[in-house]
Amino acid sequence: MATILDGKAHADRMLEAVRLGVEARKAGGLRAPGLAVVLVGDDPASQVYVRNKSAACAKVGITSLEHRLPAETPQAELDALIDRLNADPEVDGILVQLPLPKGLDSKRALHRISPTKDVDGFHPVNQGLLLEGLPGLRPCTPSACMSLLAHHGVDLKGLRAVVLGRSEIVGKPMALMLLEQHATVTIAHSRTRDLPAVCREADLLVAAVGRPGLVEGSWIKPGAVVVDVGINRIEDEALGARIFAAEPKKLETLRAKGAVLCGDVRFGEAMQVASAVTPVPGGVGPLTIAGLLTNTLQAANG
Ligand code: GUN
Repeated sequence: MATILDGKAHADRMLEAVRLGVEARKAGGLRAPGLAVVLVGDDPASQVYVRNKSAACAKVGITSLEHRLPAETPQAELDALIDRLNADPEVDGILVQLPLPKGLDSKRALHRISPTKDVDGFHPVNQGLLLEGLPGLRPCTPSACMSLLAHHGVDLKGLRAVVLGRSEIVGKPMALMLLEQHATVTIAHSRTRDLPAVCREADLLVAAVGRPGLVEGSWIKPGAVVVDVGINRIEDEALGARIFAAEPKKLETLRAKGAVLCGDVRFGEAMQVASAVTPVPGGVGPLTIAGLLTNTLQAANG
């Protein structure tokens, strides 16, 4: 049986480090870091994320400033808000919650955020710094995954890493961070030929495609470390039964709780083959917010 890599426990460690950093600022006569969160429209998942972010800020002493705008907000108004936040000395970090409603250009919004306040690490300047291996604000999910791997003593030097997914938010930056730590990195995606065979090469498999249960036990190299970034809600009962075939009790519990959540990896199958696996929920999910607050403290400290 594989070890479970407990993301919640590691997120708590990261948050405690942020809390101490905030205390140290205050002891030095500086104000608490300020994080501005911009939420446009009423996407239910986004509302949950934003609520969780505010609660986490309160725990570590970061001031959270929420800006809610209606879905019909014109781009010029969103631009103007970002400009105001860029100029506001009380604001250290700006996060525009994605996805934006139809009609708004998210790239344009993200590019407008000052790179020094870009706590998501999505601005081209920060992407460029990451590409060059220089310090900057780095995307929260992959940097927190790297921190989790380091904490568990996973030596990345020379190992074969396969990153499944090529998003700007996780796949691409994760691949760069692994490369920086001297892993041999393959980025695989939906068009990759013989995906199972590519995955089977991986000593470290990072799945970030948003496809529930895509990665089966037979895709995993015995002894591999598996990081599952996917958080998917399964509505289809038959699909749920297939994915959770190795753990019917868990499926029952999830159904009773009202939401069948599943990663991109079949956790029960992975546990039989891998040496270590992140669970869903309780794996990478809690790490993202911990990464965000780490970045907010970093932005405040300059
Ligand atoms: N929506 C889902 N994940 C993210 C994220 O990491 N950052 C932002 N800004 N929006 C998101």
